[in-house]
Amino acid sequence: MAIGNGKDDGRPTWIVTGGAGFIGSNFVHKVRRENRARVVTFDLLTYAGNRDNLLSLEGDPDHLFVRGDIRDSPAVSALLSEIRPTGLFHFAAESHVDRSIENPGEFVSTNVTGTFVLLDAALRYWEREGRGKGFRFLHVSTDEVYGSLSPSDPPFTERTPYAPNSPYAASKAASDHLVRAYFHTYGLPVVTTNCSNNYGPWQFPEKLIPTVILSALEGRPIPLYGDGENIRDWIFVEDHCDGVLAAFDRGREGETYAIGAGNPKTNRALIETLCKILDRLASRTGRSARELVTAVPDRPGHDRRYEIDAARSRTELGWTPAHSFEEALEKTVRWYLANRSWWEALRARYDGSRQGIGRKQGEGK
Ligand code: NAD
Ligand code: DAU
Repeated sequence: MAIGNGKDDGRPTWIVTGGAGFIGSNFVHKVRRENRARVVTFDLLTYAGNRDNLLSLEGDPDHLFVRGDIRDSPAVSALLSEIRPTGLFHFAAESHVDRSIENPGEFVSTNVTGTFVLLDAALRYWEREGRGKGFRFLHVSTDEVYGSLSPSDPPFTERTPYAPNSPYAASKAASDHLVRAYFHTYGLPVVTTNCSNNYGPWQFPEKLIPTVILSALEGRPIPLYGDGENIRDWIFVEDHCDGVLAAFDRGREGETYAIGAGNPKTNRALIETLCKILDRLASRTGRSARELVTAVPDRPGHDRRYEIDAARSRTELGWTPAHSFEEALEKTVRWYLANRSWWEALRARYDGSRQGIGRKQGEGK
């Protein structure tokens, strides 16, 4: 397993788990674009992982793709021994709430057992030689571990008690607790980030924003769960990746950092905004995409409101989001318009019969 033509020129090498998924691939592209480190992407290529997300890195001698499972302890240990990284960025997960409702066991297996296997192998590597290299384990987590806010609650901070509501959120909360325990018990240098809802290029079309864009482009119904008044706090994926890098560089060991860009929107309002952008950029019929919005039965246990107070990340890490919501949302729509072949290939692989892929159109729960 060689990277960088096998030469050790003192540049850092990082392992990125889940680097073929949505946020992971944006992160890998950013790190390679800025030449921050050599990168080994370790990814199982589940339905959500896609080699096409990393296509432009083919031929980059400082990027290596390794297909593997974070639950495979011998494979993970061998990877660490051979690569000898100074950083491990852990993005790999089962990430879609609706799927966790249909199949919770897969989430416990990947998100809990997988994180445990990684931590345990990282600890052995760190005790052996990682300590001398300044090795750090950066765990990428979510604001969903804090549960649901009522309208009058203040936004989540790092001090908000954990109260996960979906099997996905519970499995991520468990992984956060394991990460914390490996710091407190064994001293493994870890930093955790808890981020809000991301959007941007290469997001698998089961999540809300790509579902809306592709449904509008294909003239299919845009499913709106429940009353459409649930609130999510949106951040452009590159801003999240910057926050992860800032936490790795400047975060305190054993600490957690909430990351969010301060864009809370109801789903109804977000879809309205997206439809306006789509009408302007892509309308062929002269009819508004808004006409496609269709109420569907609500998600069971649907969290009402998320919102992040990112004050600690701003002050301690010196991190601040660089993108405005309206501009980045339009940039995202333009990306899907310009990259039809990317999502049409996914559509062909996951037959178009499942709306948003994760959920059948009009399916009751
Ligand atoms: P994603 O579903 O798009 O990608 C997950 C990646 O992990 C895929 O490439 C998949 O192949 C890989 N993977 C899954 N199981 C694996 C295994 N056992 N071994 C190796 N690789 C495996 O997810 P995403 O939206 O990019 O999220 C990445 C991380 O960020 C997750 O940990 C998620 O909890 C967290 N997060 C996501 C958001 C969001 O809005 N999407 C927000 C905050 C935090
Ligand atoms: O908050 C961070 C989390 O954001 C991440 O940890 C998760 O990995 C990520 O999937 C996301 O979770 P959500 O459940 O908030 O994202 P999703 O895109 O599935 O849904 C966003 C909102 O839109 C939610 O209130 C449900 C609603 N929705 C979703 C879909 C797919 C719809 O109304 N219609 C849809 O078709």
